Amino acid sequence: MHDATDSGPRLQGRRSALLRRLLAVRPVDARELSGAERLKQTLSAWSLMSIGIGATIGTGIFVLTGTVAANQSGPAITLSLLIAAFGSTLAALCYAEFSAFLPVPGSAYSYTYATLGEAVAWFIGWNLLLEYGISASAVAVSWSGYVVNLLAEAHIHLPAALVNAPWQADAAGHLAATGAFLNVPAVLIVAAMSALCYVGIQETAGATNFMVAVKVGVIVIFILAGLKFVSTANWKPYIPPNAGSFGHFGWSGVLQGAAIIFFSYVGFDTASTTALEARNPQRDLPLSILGTLVVSSVLYVAMAAVITGMVSYQKLNVAAPVAVALDAHAALHWLGVFVKVGAIAGMTSVILTSLLGQPRILLAMADDGLLPPVMSRCHPRFKTPHVATAVTGIGAALIAALFPLDVLADLISIGILLAFAVVCIGVLIMRRTRPDAYRPFRVPWAPFTCVLGAIVCLGMTVALSDATWIRLVLWTALGAAIYAFYGYKHSRLRP
Ligand code: ALA
Repeated sequence: MHDATDSGPRLQGRRSALLRRLLAVRPVDARELSGAERLKQTLSAWSLMSIGIGATIGTGIFVLTGTVAANQSGPAITLSLLIAAFGSTLAALCYAEFSAFLPVPGSAYSYTYATLGEAVAWFIGWNLLLEYGISASAVAVSWSGYVVNLLAEAHIHLPAALVNAPWQADAAGHLAATGAFLNVPAVLIVAAMSALCYVGIQETAGATNFMVAVKVGVIVIFILAGLKFVSTANWKPYIPPNAGSFGHFGWSGVLQGAAIIFFSYVGFDTASTTALEARNPQRDLPLSILGTLVVSSVLYVAMAAVITGMVSYQKLNVAAPVAVALDAHAALHWLGVFVKVGAIAGMTSVILTSLLGQPRILLAMADDGLLPPVMSRCHPRFKTPHVATAVTGIGAALIAALFPLDVLADLISIGILLAFAVVCIGVLIMRRTRPDAYRPFRVPWAPFTCVLGAIVCLGMTVALSDATWIRLVLWTALGAAIYAFYGYKHSRLRP
């Protein structure tokens, strides 16, 4: 009897203690830049912008533009790109405010920890693993496709079983075996880029600058050369009529196209993960995040307009749509090899910068006790989070070896869209909890901008397929299990 009357309040007490823990907020003043001495502060505003552009322009524009135009949007791929750019810009403004206010390597994870509490922060950190670690894998898969194609042109043919994933998604979105063994080139490029990240931030930034120059140069040359061959007839109808199911042309196709092509903008926030390595993060991070987005959006829309103007969108359902556009015009054949080299440089920089961002988020999570402390260890000579870099590289290489691009790309987009929505809400919460704190950059027209940003980002997730949602639920369940067994027990905020 005594137990029965006591157990109610005790259970309630335990429940509210659990809730308090899950909602525990990391104090902003704990942003003592712990770890600054472990890393090198060398990145200038240009380097940060180059890391942003390096992380952003890659597979999306060189591969997905074609498949989305052919399957979802038609010539209105430009509209899909603009919708995705709009959502990304709203999120980027919120990132800019946070990154200047809280210049720590955990990026959205740390911003969430300071506003919405530990459980949501873990969820966001877990989803950032999609943005960086797994996006490195996804881009390595398309890198492999381009390299194999270039080698084939030089009459070097690699065995199909060694350059493809053993799985691919069927029409219903289910995974089916392909008979292939491993995607070896994808593994090799991940290993090489991880090694570069391991040895130093300056080496990584130098290689990124070079690759960004090559890819942006190639894109600009393609746009200028292709313009002359644009036939406006190819843009009609701008929005092809819906083919009978949601997302297959018509307005629903434009919307679903926006959600898929959103992948092209993933990475604009990468510079925020290098906050501890920037010379003047409070001034330069907002600049680089917003600058990256402007440059990428302009190049994307111009390039997509030129591609769909040069050739009918119906012919673009291929891995190298830019090559198809060039092949349609004999006078432009000379550009083919340059474009492939530009695409490969672009994808290489995305892989490199993704592998740069991920370990820094792991470092922040380990510093907070949510991951084993070994993850925050930094190399005494190279001044890089070398253990987290190695772990990221091994994980990304394994995934790149085994899975195809489309399965990975949609999962990445949905995870990031949710993370962006949370960052938008986080800005509002931070404005309320720390109204007087100094903010070097402020989102204009808040709260309207932030609320709209969250709505647009969440709206795009609705347009993604059921299979993608199911994969997200499984991914989240895996993350929740790791948090329950490790992070919850070891969190620094544990009383
Ligand atoms: N935005 C990056 C790309 O398109 C992930 O490759």
